[in-house]
Amino acid sequence: MLNRRKLLKALSLGTTALAAGLRWPRQASAQTAPAPTPIHEGNSLTIPPLLEGISDGMEKRFELQLQQGETEFFPGVKTPTLGINGSFLGPTLRCSRNDLIRLQVNNQIGEPTTLHWHGLHVPARSDGGPHQTIEHGERWEPLIRIMQPAATLWYHSHMMHKTGEQVYRGLAGMLILDDDVSKGLALPSEYGVDDIPIIIQDRRFKKDGTLAYMTIYDDMVQGMQGDIKMVNGVVDPYFVPTTTKVRLRILNAANARKYMLAFSDHRPFQVIASDGGLLTAPVTMDMLMLASGERVEIIADFSDGQPVTLVNVPMVSNYQDSPGAMSRIMRAMGSEGFDVLRFFPAAELRASAPVPEALTTIKRRHADEAVNTRTFRLQMGTGSRGGGDRGPTTGYRNGFGGGHGGGDYFINGRQMAMDYINERVKLGDTEIWEVFNSSPMPHPFHIHSGQFQILDRDGIAPPPHELGFKDTVLVKGRETVRVILSFVDFSDAEHPYMYHCHMLEHEDRGMMGQFLVV
Ligand code: C2O
Ligand code: CU
Ligand code: CU
Repeated sequence: MLNRRKLLKALSLGTTALAAGLRWPRQASAQTAPAPTPIHEGNSLTIPPLLEGISDGMEKRFELQLQQGETEFFPGVKTPTLGINGSFLGPTLRCSRNDLIRLQVNNQIGEPTTLHWHGLHVPARSDGGPHQTIEHGERWEPLIRIMQPAATLWYHSHMMHKTGEQVYRGLAGMLILDDDVSKGLALPSEYGVDDIPIIIQDRRFKKDGTLAYMTIYDDMVQGMQGDIKMVNGVVDPYFVPTTTKVRLRILNAANARKYMLAFSDHRPFQVIASDGGLLTAPVTMDMLMLASGERVEIIADFSDGQPVTLVNVPMVSNYQDSPGAMSRIMRAMGSEGFDVLRFFPAAELRASAPVPEALTTIKRRHADEAVNTRTFRLQMGTGSRGGGDRGPTTGYRNGFGGGHGGGDYFINGRQMAMDYINERVKLGDTEIWEVFNSSPMPHPFHIHSGQFQILDRDGIAPPPHELGFKDTVLVKGRETVRVILSFVDFSDAEHPYMYHCHMLEHEDRGMMGQFLVV
């Protein structure tokens, strides 16, 4: 039974919590602060169950039931959702390098879907992209050898034209890889205690408690962005650290929103890993941008025992004075500050080991190792093509668009087509992929098949926390990003890999292409 009053009350909680918790820009924080309140407002962070597979000595079997369910994001209000082995999101899968894993994916969601292993180096036929469709009631069972270093990866639906909607409803989860290097380091690694998955998303709800998806024009342009922020599916969440240091495996699993993350008191944190695994050494930062699809592992320090909030820092837009709907949307993007996750350290904190000064070794690639450069031009539909007149409220002629963003998206002038192979790569080659964003809006560019390194952005080397392995890179408006990657292990003349914008509504609306490794 729906309780509208409760929902409305809960919906307004978001803003109250924001006012209470967000302290940005800088405020005096040196006064003696009171001891943390023992009873906390909001909701205790849920930790997704850990699934380590059932081993028969040869392979580890993971049973994944994709299912429909109902989730109580707000007390007394049941929202129809999708989940894996549960009603919303999925378990954290964990395995190690060299493991042979069998993923038994059983689709019971009432419509076709796929399950893609984002960041995992696998043959294209096991990748779970749009070609590996699983009909309702059917199973898909890829057998995968883990061949890459320790990393925080994730998995999600990749259904053609439906990725955004299915992820939004809940088809996503975290995938953690370990290896001898990660196991040998004195890093916080007790899952759910000092090693915490932080899956950040945002949603919009209708008054009846159901999820609102693609209900307004802006959703097509800036992607689906919601006013309700959640971590691990929990609205208005808090976590109680019990150790002085906590490793946060942060995944931006939002459909489209970028997060500029910082602590409310500006305390520094140490970045220890990017998308593809550990950095060579921790990088101390106090603010970090994470676009959809990206991950980062950070070590946060709670040894002062003070409550603190992980917040989204509002960004000043470059689009203050141009008129038009596109500019209005660009101005609005990222201009809002809000709480992501509040921390209330326990009264007694177990002392954590110091963060190791060296983490792993990474061989940086050089541009001259590449035998070939491919260029990818990211384009938003213009008024005259694609974006113009798709409906009564979406047209450029109606004053929307302003010459950009009619809601269709292209790479090199084409939209994704299932039967068109955009690129053919030679097995064994190392290539530079040069991604130029011809639009004013930033797009996170993701490549399947493995991890790459960022060479430069407009000719400038990336910052230290982006010198490791990446599978998703944010390309700002009018920017050119060059990445270098090798195609060494799997060739397949039939099954393609994808590359695309990880704003899922852009992906679903054409900003995706396919490549074969042959
Ligand atoms: Cu996270 Cu092609 O996807
Ligand atoms: Cu992917
Ligand atoms: Cu995009």
